[in-house]
Amino acid sequence: MFTETPSQAWSLRYGDQASSLPDLGRFLNHRTVRQYSNEPIPEEVIAGLVAAAQSAATSSNLQLYSMVSVQEPEARKQIAVMCSDQKQIHTCSWFFAFVADHFRLAKAAKEAGQNPAGLDYLEFFTMAAIDAALAAERMVCAAESLGIASCYIGALRNDPVGVRDLLGLPSQTYGLFGLCLGYPAEDAKAEIKPRLKQPAIWFREKYDENPDIAEYNARMKEFYESQGMSGDVDWSMRSGRRVDGNHMSGRDSMLDYVREQGFLKR
Ligand SMILES: Cc1cc2nc3c(=O)[nH]c(=O)nc-3n(C[C@H](O)[C@H](O)[C@H](O)COP(=O)(O)O)c2cc1C
Repeated sequence: MFTETPSQAWSLRYGDQASSLPDLGRFLNHRTVRQYSNEPIPEEVIAGLVAAAQSAATSSNLQLYSMVSVQEPEARKQIAVMCSDQKQIHTCSWFFAFVADHFRLAKAAKEAGQNPAGLDYLEFFTMAAIDAALAAERMVCAAESLGIASCYIGALRNDPVGVRDLLGLPSQTYGLFGLCLGYPAEDAKAEIKPRLKQPAIWFREKYDENPDIAEYNARMKEFYESQGMSGDVDWSMRSGRRVDGNHMSGRDSMLDYVREQGFLKR
């Protein structure tokens, strides 16, 4: 499954041909998959994927994140419901919650006679979020190299209190996002999604305030139509609605919650 060559994947991403490409293996083939087969991912494979996640770089080796797998059927059902009841959370072989975690380091530091007051700063919250994302994406890349598919779940933040209580998360932790892992279903619909062309993302020396978005909107219109979605609402419009402040799915009080959990005091 998902056997595009790097140059085929490049064309699907950018709508043009790569002049020359290194052998990137599967690195350009990523797509989110939401339909999985019933084949379980063995625990030893998952242990390998966790090792891949932990092999990611981590700021000052602080490792300010944790992962909580949710396999027990009733708990999985509950967490799925908290995450907008998305079907892929029910059906994936493994579900992980990625957690920003200051608790472990604060405890270790105190036990070593240190005062971990710096963790109060936004800086260390940012660090935890970056560390968690890097670990998760390394896990996803490793999974994809084994033919295992994934779907991140930002909806984990829809009900932070529910997630905290279900997973027993202490203070100084915050459930950032979920990750579904599973072998893709035979008939999984998951295309490589076009991205902005490189000059709209990769700026050389100075930021460009006027990248070519119209070009991307035209390609995304075609993509949406190929997926049976309306091409009338282009990427700018669709994405603009996503950030209009009226589609927060319960995440509008996140700042209060995160502070309640002991983060972002300064
Ligand atoms: C942090 C994060 C949270 C996401 N949350 C969800 C989610 O809750 N549900 C979902 O179906 N997809 C979710 N996605 C998947 C994105 O919609 C998807 O990555 C994006 O549309 C690009 O598609 P692609 O991954 O197939 O290239 C999330 C992705 C990321 C990185």
